[in-house]
This record gives sequence, C-alpha cells and structure tokens, in this order.
Amino acid sequence: MLKGRLLLFLFLCMFLSACRGGQKEEEKASIRIGISLYRGEDTFINNICGILEEKAKEYERESGIKVVLDIQDAKGSQNVQNNQVERFISLGCDVLCINPVDRMDASVIIDRAMTAGVPVVFFNRQPVEEDMNRWDELYYIGVDAKETAVLQGKMVVDLYREDAGAVDLNGDGVVSYVLLEGETSHQDSLIRTEWSVRTLKNGGVPIEKLTGGIANWERSQASALMEQWLAAYPDTIELVVSNNDDMALGAIDAMERAGVTGVNVIGIDGTTPGLEALESGKLLGTVSANKELYASVILELAASCALGEEPPEEYPLEGGTYYWTPQEILIRENKD
Ligand code: GAL
Repeated sequence: MLKGRLLLFLFLCMFLSACRGGQKEEEKASIRIGISLYRGEDTFINNICGILEEKAKEYERESGIKVVLDIQDAKGSQNVQNNQVERFISLGCDVLCINPVDRMDASVIIDRAMTAGVPVVFFNRQPVEEDMNRWDELYYIGVDAKETAVLQGKMVVDLYREDAGAVDLNGDGVVSYVLLEGETSHQDSLIRTEWSVRTLKNGGVPIEKLTGGIANWERSQASALMEQWLAAYPDTIELVVSNNDDMALGAIDAMERAGVTGVNVIGIDGTTPGLEALESGKLLGTVSANKELYASVILELAASCALGEEPPEEYPLEGGTYYWTPQEILIRENKD
C-alpha cells in the first residue's frame, strides 16, 4: 500500500517536472502588446505612454524578450477603439492595454478579449465593477481618486495653517475659489471635486465657491472659462482648484492674458508642463502619481499576462485585479 503511494507520488513528480520542462521549451522570444489610448493628445496619458515605451525597452534589455508595442489613438471615439481592439486580436497580440474611451462601455472590448482568450490591462479610466468581475484576466491600474483629492486639499490646509494670508489673499476671512472640473463621466472628476472641497472645509479653510465649470481636462476649455470668470468676478478670485494640471495651466493662461497675478492655482497629475509651471512659480502645487511606477506596473503586468505567468509579486494587486499607484504632494517652495 505504502509502496504503491510512493510510486504514485514519484510518478506525479516526474510528470509535473516534465510539464514544466515542456513549458520552458515553448517560452516566447517576443511578445506583442496592443495599446489603445482614449485620446493621445491628453498630456497626462501622453506622459504615461512615453514612459511605457522606455519601460518596454528596459524590459527587453533585462529579459532578452522582444517587446512589440502597437500604440493606437482612439481620438475620443469608443467605436474607433473597438475596431482597434478587433485589429489587435487579428494581429495576434498576446495582451491588450486599454485606456477606455467610455469607461461605462468596456463590455464590447471585454467580450472580444474573452472570446479570443487575450488578457486586458485597463488603465486610468476605470471600467465599472460589474465588467471587471466578468473574467479573472482583467486588470486595472490607476490612482485612488479620493486619496488624490485629499492630498490636493491638504496642501492648501497646511499652507493656510502656516500662513493664513498666503491663502486668504485680501484678508477678509473668506477664501473665494473657482473650480475646474474634468469630464463628467470620469470617476476622477466627481471624486476629486467632492474630496478636495471637503478636505479644505474640514481642515478649517473658510472657503466660498464663486463658480465652477466643466473643462474636460483641457487647457483651452479651462482658459476660456477662466476668462469669463475673471470678467464676472474682478479682483475676487483667490484660489483656483483644478481637477488636473492642464486645466490649471489654462486658468494661468487666462490670468496672464488679463494681467492678473498672485492667485493661487492647484492642479493634479505632475505632468511635464505642470512641473515646469511649479518650477517657475505659476502653479502653487500639484498631486503627482509616481508615473515611473505606473508605467512599470502596466508593462510588467502585461508582459506576465502575455507569457502566461503569474502577475509580478512586487506589485500587489488588490483583490488580484487592481493596482493603486502611490502619489505625493508637490508644492512650490516659496510663494514669492
Ligand atoms: C485623469 C488625469 C487627467 C486626464 C484623465 C484622462 O486621471 O488627471 O489629466 O489625463 O485622467 O482620463
């Protein structure tokens, strides 16, 4: 009896090691990743994509596996993106990295990927939970929107506590602010708006909203809104709270045109132009996700999917699905 079990055990061991050997022989020499961006012109997405390309080269050098990135711009159209996915699959992509145009409508992409057995790493625009739960080969990489907003509010709270006059510019006991919001359908816009304002209030900054508007993450749209607000509330705006850096820069453009100075502007993203504005003192502060890490996780998770391996251990996935990129406050050293 014991001998029989021992033999069975030995046989199992040999069988498993033969299987592993077989897998090794089949190891891929190259992987193909299909990437679709919701809008290639978006500054933050553009920044992430640039780093992703560098990470792919780094991965190639380190692993000896060739990485082919097929990057496509959906230019704001879900239909175009669906066709891109179709094409990626027909070209034999091993994995897809999708920045969905319409996060509520990822089901077509998921259907296609599931049928073809091609894993999907979504990023930045979070598909709804119901969609994400449909298959265990779906992942999401992004930042925690509430955390971002709390950090954005906190930078002004800290400044106010240190030097109230640096925030309440006219010293009337009220900080009059305007608010620039991103796309209405984006999870980040609503949560960022709500929690930035709440953090300011809870932190004891006596804020009063003058007005606000949707500028869809875009610099030019924000600039047009700010131009109107400067005319409607002359010498009144003390703080511009923006859901991202690009819209913050739009507000700064409008103020420069109108010759207005001294207003505090806060953004989110830490994009290249955002950081330049911080450096030159035009932007008071921003909340920046660790973009190196953001791109590394997308690339390495995608590569592990493409190779049929387990997700990389160094990037813990919440519930086996979600990765939340750490972020930090960047504030200009000296207001003057
Ligand atoms: C946000 C980012 C915005 C914009 C948007 C696109 O997370 O802050 O600047 O890039 O994603 O989905």
